[in-house]
Amino acid sequence: MTAQQHSYTAKLNILLASYELHYQNLRSLHWNVKGNNFFELHLKYEELYTRTQIIIDEVAERILTLGTTPLSRFSDYLNHSVIPENELITDGKKGMNYILEAQKSLLHIERMILSQASECEDEGTVALMSDLVREKEKTNWMFAAWLG
Ligand SMILES: [Fe+2]
Repeated sequence: MTAQQHSYTAKLNILLASYELHYQNLRSLHWNVKGNNFFELHLKYEELYTRTQIIIDEVAERILTLGTTPLSRFSDYLNHSVIPENELITDGKKGMNYILEAQKSLLHIERMILSQASECEDEGTVALMSDLVREKEKTNWMFAAWLG
């Protein structure tokens, strides 16, 4: 494995750890949301954590496909995630604002991985990252629209 490959494989583990924290933050939002938008947001948060669960598995299995080991312990996730654990959020606007900011952080890592994997002609990783980037660009527009 070249130094460049080693670098983005390590970033894939940072991405995995960040998605794990994001996943649990989304569960917390789903459980604790209060207010007039309860039904709308309770469902939206569920949709987001369900999708995040699938992404987590895809990223972990990509790490394995590249011949390395995905982080799998909560303590490792806490140490490597760029997304911190949230305090309890009940307010819908704060929740959606958190999601928008978290997605920007995830997008930043994905773009770095995409660029390095592209230089290594690792098309499988490029394809996975470009799907995630495209999806997040679209949903970020939607979250920004919701926030007004
Ligand atoms: Fe539920």
